[in-house]
Amino acid sequence: MRVSGLIRLSALLFALVALWIFLRNSSSFSRKTIRLPRWLGVEKNKCGLSKPCPDNFFAFKICSGAANVVGPSMCFENEIIMSPVKNNVGRGLNIAVVNGSTGHVLRQGSFDMYSGDPKLLEKFLVEIPEGVLVLVASYDDPGTKMNDEIRKLFSKLGSVYATNLGFRDSWVFLGARDLKNKSPFEQFLKNSPDTNKYEGWPELLELEGCVPRKVF
Ligand SMILES: *[C@@H]1O[C@H](CO)[C@@H](O)[C@H](O)[C@H]1NC(C)=O
Repeated sequence: MRVSGLIRLSALLFALVALWIFLRNSSSFSRKTIRLPRWLGVEKNKCGLSKPCPDNFFAFKICSGAANVVGPSMCFENEIIMSPVKNNVGRGLNIAVVNGSTGHVLRQGSFDMYSGDPKLLEKFLVEIPEGVLVLVASYDDPGTKMNDEIRKLFSKLGSVYATNLGFRDSWVFLGARDLKNKSPFEQFLKNSPDTNKYEGWPELLELEGCVPRKVF
């Protein structure tokens, strides 16, 4: 009787410990992994946009980095092209080039504008072919190594603010090589102690929308 009681007690203890370990391990990710099935919830729009894009438009969302802490991210047609999770972003300017008619990613690059060689960015921009869209997100400092040649190349892609880009400014932009006018997709915040959201950096910027597909 005493032996079987002991066995029952240790079985109970074992079960409780196992349950505790199970709950401890599962509770940390249950909130993230348990989602409503698609047929129950509302289907999310591409890149999390509030409205779906019309036919023959690409959905995009570009976020600049937050201070020097959180890296920038770029979504295009529901695909995360660049992000801290993908580990392909860095301090300076982060740039992706996509085919304007297919939406396929052609090139991407991260250019250190604080202590890197600006020639690398110049070369990247000069080699951008026609018929593409160019997505740009700043992180930490896009301005220190900025030069007139690079400003000119961004202006040719339809940027208004590249002429003004300086130390620790926030900048998000979507342009194209053969734009006739300035791009409607651009946001810019100057680094200024009076208005900065973070100590030493302005607020991060988010740019989202629908960009027309180039149809032949
Ligand atoms: C974009 O895709 C189209 C269709 O496949 C192709 O004809 C064109 O050459 C591509 N453009 C670039 C710059 O890759």
